[in-house]
Amino acid sequence: MTTPAHDLVVIGSGPGGYVAAIRAAQLGMKVACVEKYPTLGGVCLNVGCIPSKALLDSSEHFHLARHGFATHGIRATVELDLPTMMARKAKVVNDLTRGVEGLFRKHKITRVTGTARLRSAGEVEVSGGAPQVLGTGRVLIATGSKPARLPGIDFDGRRIVHSTDALALPDVPGRMIVVGAGAIGLELGSVWMRLGSEVRVIELLDRIVAGADLQTARLLQRSLEKQGMAFEFGASIGAARVEGARVKVRVAGAAEREDDCDVLLVAVGRRPYTNGLGAAELGVQMDDRGFIRVDAQYRTSVGGVYAIGDVIPGPMLAHKAQEEGIAAVERMAGLAGHVDYDCVPNVVYTWPELASVGMTEEAAKAQSREVRVGRFPFRANGRALAMEERDGDVKLIADAATDRLLGAHIVGPRASDLIAELAFAMEMQASAEDVARSMHAHPTLPEAVKEAALAVGKRAIHI
Ligand code: FAD
Ligand code: NAI
Repeated sequence: MTTPAHDLVVIGSGPGGYVAAIRAAQLGMKVACVEKYPTLGGVCLNVGCIPSKALLDSSEHFHLARHGFATHGIRATVELDLPTMMARKAKVVNDLTRGVEGLFRKHKITRVTGTARLRSAGEVEVSGGAPQVLGTGRVLIATGSKPARLPGIDFDGRRIVHSTDALALPDVPGRMIVVGAGAIGLELGSVWMRLGSEVRVIELLDRIVAGADLQTARLLQRSLEKQGMAFEFGASIGAARVEGARVKVRVAGAAEREDDCDVLLVAVGRRPYTNGLGAAELGVQMDDRGFIRVDAQYRTSVGGVYAIGDVIPGPMLAHKAQEEGIAAVERMAGLAGHVDYDCVPNVVYTWPELASVGMTEEAAKAQSREVRVGRFPFRANGRALAMEERDGDVKLIADAATDRLLGAHIVGPRASDLIAELAFAMEMQASAEDVARSMHAHPTLPEAVKEAALAVGKRAIHI
């Protein structure tokens, strides 16, 4: 038997795949990574996390210049230059994808451009570029996900769009209807609202950000409504058709009605992507929603074939994909890689931001778990006032008997940064008392975290 040319072939160069490839190379494996797109970095770097955050940051500056500066005593005349904003976004993406190319070179990872198909557990066929077959000891599937469609509603890339198109609209829509009040709907809805669109979000459920703590989600909803975002709950889109420059939409729900808009953004979730991969044909088992089944070591039902990231069950998040990639290859190398799924932070990058980790109050109640809740509002935090950021609060949930932190839910300025302390505290199995007794610099936003921890024991100082 001949020795395969590679120890590991990674299929997909998203945050799961490229991080796994780097970690495997650090562990001494001979690694190849197959990517069908011309740039590395997957959805996250090319059409996901990074371009959306670039536009969120730019549009936030625009919004502040128009609506926030005057409060600080700054008068400015502001004009939007959308092509420059889009070009900056493209540069950020380019810098980062080129950065991954550099990391591949540094770690001597073979980059293969083309579409991969599993021929067997030890052979990956690549088409698209120069056809070739890569012999390998193991395969890691990291093929990610694609936007979900609504039945009967086709994307046309210009008027009826998914997230990728909504990151590159050529002009600001006068009116945008967003279907789905999840992370994509709220983030991209915020971008275009700040740039001047009238945005209406249509959501099947009776709330935004399903899965987040309800009280916290309601706080975010109120803030977004104050900024002008309109919500319609218990509703969906029954049909949509493009007529000239408009999209005619039939809203299905309690009150059926016709509506129209310049752009209809469908953001109703994403589905795992395994098209053309040959995984099912090889016997890789999937669940009824198409996610690849894996065990605790990310092994699929076929020996030598592993899977991580959006293509397996769990939250579809870049950092979750990265941690799984690291854990999977460490397990291959006989190390003790592990992901703690109770401590996965989740952020919605609206303004204010929503960030959470761990158990919600509803989940605690559903499990009849005795908990103590501490909350502290940003309107009582000195730094938040200095920033003119009064909306939102920090909410901590601790076990009533042991005081161990079980969950943290924040709506507020830079919640995305604030949640890191709490994710770390939970990983370390800290108590609310541990956080409350840690000294936090003054005046800072993290003091609101400390105060919420004090509030768990009913001894917050500043409220
Ligand atoms: P992906 O990033 O989807 O990468 C998979 C790669 O595999 C792709 O490049 C694809 O071309 C390639 N591929 C697929 N099949 C083949 C094949 N047969 N052969 C070769 N290559 C193949 N998550 C966050 O944590 N934070 C955020 O702020 C955030 N923002 C987002 C914003 C948007 C608009 C979107 C759409 C998503 C966002 N996400 C965010 C989610 C995040 O992008 C995903 O969770 C993450 O990219 C998943 O990583 P992955 O490695 O599993 O797969
Ligand atoms: P999502 O699952 O977060 O939200 C989809 C929303 O659409 C849900 O509220 C759902 O109830 C609603 N919905 C479903 N069908 C509907 C229908 N027919 N009519 C009306 N509403 C309907 O999905 P989203 O926002 O598309 O994001 C996809 C994935 O990308 C998510 O899993 C998310 O984790 C990830 N992502 C993460 C980001 C972040 O971490 N900041 C940013 C953007 C995406």
